[in-house]
Amino acid sequence: MVDMKLFSTGNESHADDLDIEKTLGSLTTMEKISLLGGKDFWHIADVPSKGIPAVRMSDGPNGVRGINFFNGTPSNCFPCATGLASSFDLALAREVGVQLGEECRAKGAHILLGPTVNIQRSPLGGRGFESFSEDPYLSGKFAASWINGVQSQGVAATMKHFVGNEQEFERFSSDSVIPDRALREIYLEPFRIAEHEAKPKCYMTSYNRVNGVHCSESKWLLDDILRKEWGFEGMVMSDWTGVYSCDASIKAGLDIEMPGPPVFRGAQVLRQLQAGKLFMWEIDERVRKILGIIKFAKQSGIPFGVEEKMIDNDDTRALLRKAAATAIVLLKNEKDILPIKEAKKIAVIGSNARVACPSGGGSASMLTAYTVTPLEGITAAAKEIGAAVEYSIGSATYLYMPAISKMLRHPHGKSEAGFAQVDFWKSEPTKDFTRKDAGIRISQKADYSVSTATCNCFMMDGVPSDITVSKPYIRYTSKFTPDTSGTWKFGLGSIGATDLYINGRLVVNNSSNWSPGDLYFGCGSEERTGTIDNLEAGQIYDLEVRSWYQEDVRGSPFQTAGAFRFGAIPVIEDEKAIADAVMAAKNADVAIVVVGLNEDFESEGYDRKHMDLPGTTNKLIRAILEVNPNTVIVNQSGTPVTMPWINHAHSLVQAFYGGNSLGDGLADVLFGKINPSSKLSLTFPKRLADSPSDIGFGITSATPGKTFYTENIYVGYRHFDKSETPVLFPFGHGLSYTTFAYSDLKLSDISAEGNFEVSFSIENTGKVAGKEAGQVYIHVPQSSLPRAVKELKGFVKVELQPGQKESVSVKLDRNALKYWDERRDWWIAEVGEFEVLVGPSSVDLPLRKMAKLEKSITWVGL
Ligand code: BGC
Repeated sequence: MVDMKLFSTGNESHADDLDIEKTLGSLTTMEKISLLGGKDFWHIADVPSKGIPAVRMSDGPNGVRGINFFNGTPSNCFPCATGLASSFDLALAREVGVQLGEECRAKGAHILLGPTVNIQRSPLGGRGFESFSEDPYLSGKFAASWINGVQSQGVAATMKHFVGNEQEFERFSSDSVIPDRALREIYLEPFRIAEHEAKPKCYMTSYNRVNGVHCSESKWLLDDILRKEWGFEGMVMSDWTGVYSCDASIKAGLDIEMPGPPVFRGAQVLRQLQAGKLFMWEIDERVRKILGIIKFAKQSGIPFGVEEKMIDNDDTRALLRKAAATAIVLLKNEKDILPIKEAKKIAVIGSNARVACPSGGGSASMLTAYTVTPLEGITAAAKEIGAAVEYSIGSATYLYMPAISKMLRHPHGKSEAGFAQVDFWKSEPTKDFTRKDAGIRISQKADYSVSTATCNCFMMDGVPSDITVSKPYIRYTSKFTPDTSGTWKFGLGSIGATDLYINGRLVVNNSSNWSPGDLYFGCGSEERTGTIDNLEAGQIYDLEVRSWYQEDVRGSPFQTAGAFRFGAIPVIEDEKAIADAVMAAKNADVAIVVVGLNEDFESEGYDRKHMDLPGTTNKLIRAILEVNPNTVIVNQSGTPVTMPWINHAHSLVQAFYGGNSLGDGLADVLFGKINPSSKLSLTFPKRLADSPSDIGFGITSATPGKTFYTENIYVGYRHFDKSETPVLFPFGHGLSYTTFAYSDLKLSDISAEGNFEVSFSIENTGKVAGKEAGQVYIHVPQSSLPRAVKELKGFVKVELQPGQKESVSVKLDRNALKYWDERRDWWIAEVGEFEVLVGPSSVDLPLRKMAKLEKSITWVGL
């Protein structure tokens, strides 16, 4: 329970209460209507005369970005959800939740837009990294602990996206056609578990349809299931621009349209009231829920309308580092190459080593307070054991050119304010601004200027509104000091027209023949590239981006002053890159190859097109494995990738997107400061064609506009078990630098209500201390309807010293035995025998025992 007294500021104007019925009674019709839509992108409307302040919201699942995409207050980014859930450590999930709650308080945010609890149907889902697991139980348990952490700080958590939002392709319109049983057992189940265990204050509807009806208009989902069946009492908001009707969404139970100003509320509501399509009691019902959240926000003591603050202290950095290390899964370690104890020379290879990838892309991403790249983390750890590090890119595998932040300096030396200056003019400041001529001089004073610390300026906020509406001319200037001599390739993408210049010379033209691409949630261009020869390492060059509004560019649902992102890498031939890396690996005692994806490959707005590692990565890995058997492969991705070289690799680590401190956390694992203890929260298939939804996902759907969830309940390991398809790495798999043995399985009788206890012992049989995640699955030998071969229903995480043995227990209830019978619309735990399976992974379950339920139990609800 949230103890609101904890958060009293003593300032009565903030800490006071709100009487919902009294306030409702005092509101005029227009005031009520104003509350049904957001005030702006991140606030609920305020009605100051009635004591209603503007409640603030912020994304998102792995950090608190705050109210600005552009020039926001920097944030602490935690590991993405697939990584966090791989820890199987609910205490960590809560700890991260508490920290996120604290960050909300520092940013004046009353509502956090997370967690994301959709399910990975396919490895290709663009937002797969944002959701915890392919398993509804693991997902629901993590969501609950995370929410309890966030809400313990007086901040409202938001479960999203309710429901069936498993792909990005046609995300606003796609119809997820889901059998009732799968909807209940797989897709609604994480929401149900968290509703039961954590009572989140808010829900966000998904963009898509479910079985023909948009979720924001689905009375069945919002009213029948969420409110009536589960007893949810909080507020339901739309996803951003995810409302498509006025009366239907209000009648269904969607309280607030976000963002504001609303498109389907406002004047339309008044007209529909006049026409008798809506009634005042329906409006009142929605407003009541919104007032409920406003009351919660007032009680939280979090002030309204304040400037955002950043939290950056030793404790937070330590938690970020611990979380980064804990989220890492050791998938293979055949010759005990890891941990690295002794080495004189370490070759660090790969695109992902040199660039920080704290998060996947889209609304989950943020401006990070700091980052540690794998190369930086490994270099620091190598120093401690007296090893020298040589870096080699090996394979330049970027979807878009990576940011060059660490090579930029502020043109006017204002380093504390960022590394670039951005100037805005409401009208064209010189005749030649949009021409591609050599350096131009602008004598006209800018209408607005600001410094920034990003190479990705998404200026839908963070710029005064009079500037934004003027469709400004924008110039971004910085000083670029390359770290390598030779030819550099620059990339530039944007909403609107943009050109990039080095020392006044046009290098990338993204203004002529602008062509649409995936950038900026599908509103931006493709990335254009251009090269410039003979740059000298250490020499300072003027870097300039000019941007302006262009009529023929695609419209955006956001009002932006403009948006552009650029990056660069030194050009290197593929063969030469591999040859250089091979040479470095040959000369080293250990080679660490850091490969994978990044926020451009895995992002909100689009799905991945294939499951393979990009470019020449596989070729590079094979070449390195051939010359140095002491090679550690580190894969960084939020969701599975194929690994055709797996049989030749001795040591493999899955690093996900580990947040600010990934580099340090990774080094802690590689060099043995932290003993890895995580287990995969999702199966890694051998190839895409093996995955359960291969022919019915995203663009592959044979029926336009519909995605048929034909695999039904057989998602993730449920599918691989059922079809006996071999996988690359199974669900729940993960190694340690020590070993564990399982024994002494005992079961209590199953009570008439379906409650029982599973206990067993875990012993650390190795030489170092470690943590182990013991997993409990249920197998149902006989059932009226087909069942999954087994389902995860419990887990524990224990820390054990070498030789230590501990007895642990897991309490289970009727939910461990149930299935959804859609003929009767109820849960049923059927009379009969159940097998309890216990062990270290979904495919290694050495302990087994039968239990019996004497009489069937049926129920509906939480
Ligand atoms: C995403 C949500 C997010 C919202 C606000 C949407 O595009 O789907 O998850 O919370 O934007 O950024």
